[in-house]
Amino acid sequence: MTASDMTATEVTAAEVTAPDRAVTDTTAAGATAADSLPLTATRRFPPGFLWGAATAAYQIEGAAAEDGRTPSIWDTFARTPGKVFEGHTGDVAVDHYHRFRDDVRLMADLGLTAYRFSVSWPRVQPTGRGPAVQKGLDFYRRLVDELLAHGITPLLTLYHWDLPQELEDAGGWPQRTTAERFGEYAGIVADALGDRVPRWTTLNEPWCSAFLGYGSGVHAPGRTDPVAALRAAHHLNLGHGLAAQALRAALPSHAEVSVSLNLHQVRPLTGAAEDLDAARRIDAVGNRVWLGPMLNGAYPEDLLADTAGLTDWSFVRRNDLTEINQLLDTVGINYYTPTLVSVVRDGDDAPRHDGHGASTFSPWPGSEDVAFHQPPGELTAMGWSVDPSGMYDLLMRMTREHPGLPLLITENGAAYEDEVAADGSVHDPERLAYVQGHLEAVHRAISDGADVRGYFLWSLLDNFEWAYGYAKRFGAVHVDYETQKRTPKSTAHWYARVARSGEVPPPQGM
Ligand code: FCB
Repeated sequence: MTASDMTATEVTAAEVTAPDRAVTDTTAAGATAADSLPLTATRRFPPGFLWGAATAAYQIEGAAAEDGRTPSIWDTFARTPGKVFEGHTGDVAVDHYHRFRDDVRLMADLGLTAYRFSVSWPRVQPTGRGPAVQKGLDFYRRLVDELLAHGITPLLTLYHWDLPQELEDAGGWPQRTTAERFGEYAGIVADALGDRVPRWTTLNEPWCSAFLGYGSGVHAPGRTDPVAALRAAHHLNLGHGLAAQALRAALPSHAEVSVSLNLHQVRPLTGAAEDLDAARRIDAVGNRVWLGPMLNGAYPEDLLADTAGLTDWSFVRRNDLTEINQLLDTVGINYYTPTLVSVVRDGDDAPRHDGHGASTFSPWPGSEDVAFHQPPGELTAMGWSVDPSGMYDLLMRMTREHPGLPLLITENGAAYEDEVAADGSVHDPERLAYVQGHLEAVHRAISDGADVRGYFLWSLLDNFEWAYGYAKRFGAVHVDYETQKRTPKSTAHWYARVARSGEVPPPQGM
């Protein structure tokens, strides 16, 4: 397509981009930043630091067909044979819809000062358009009131992946109308809950929605079309911008607006130029595809060049970047493990240890030939390496590139094979060490100038871990899926002490 073929609303690549520096960790894998405190010291966090835990609607609520809720893309995907481990679904999940009062009491027992949850779009606006269902909104109103009554500050995420199925049937995120619907839905939720929820997040991990949902197909809706994935990415960006504007219009001025991104800490396997370039490419389609438009008002030029063989990005209309580039009060970072990449060597097939589930289709449009390696370090039950230096590096990068922007860790945690002991307790020393190590990294970043306002452990409860069903347990609190009995693991007891004291003690035995 030439510029003259474009309609009035379309713009050239040059107009939608601005020079955007690719910043990747150029040190070889395994390098760690110097620590500033001896390991034996206690880490004290700033006063007012939020000690939270996070969940998402489809992963915990259950009550899938109650009070007017209609199916989301995850209900459909979970019912599609072969998509989710052993055909598990979120129909019942951990029954939080009925047990939320007990769960809030549990949060209070754990000393939490904040709780991050998501609203199920098909529960409050079943078809994704038109008026809201009061019963759906009432559930969240009761939940928020219960949190406030226990002194727990709510952080509400509008979208954690459960698109109303009707919107997917109409084209889903690759279509512009889905972004427009999302903006309207944001306004509905803000009108209903804006008087009591102080902190709002538009999207959770749009990378997963776009690239796992429409690229590799390991997440709902399970499509495998690289162009659809890039279109989805843009319309998620646009949906974020429209939702942020709807929130600003409806919320009191002190309310905070944010987004949660699973930023990849991309590291090149070697210092060779071609591996540095592989890292740049993955940084573009993993991170800067969001950070560019949302924070700088432009797509990175190198991303458009890397994907030029797939699309000319003519779905980006004039004004879209202005709509997307809204002032944010904080940015939420979800971090679990670093990403180690190289070019493919010796004509082998590219190894695919990118941690995002197996598929013959790549979730990296335009960079399908980049190889992903298993980073060094101990592995969690997800096969993700444990490396808190990735958290530190990400926080420092955001601090360098966006000085003055407050940050939150909106997810961090680990799955392990937990066992219930004969006395009913659940002892999870590996998870505890994981959380401790990552909190130390957050503390170190704060000491070095990062403005980190809080930490949300993923997750409060064991839950439906997407394509892995109930097979992977991330909870601080164990759930017996037969009886729905909740049992705080040793991590939860430890975290309660940390939350109450505001400090992370040195590892035991030091
Ligand atoms: C994140 C998701 C969250 C959970 C954790 C383990 O990507 O946002 O719902 O699945 O991973």
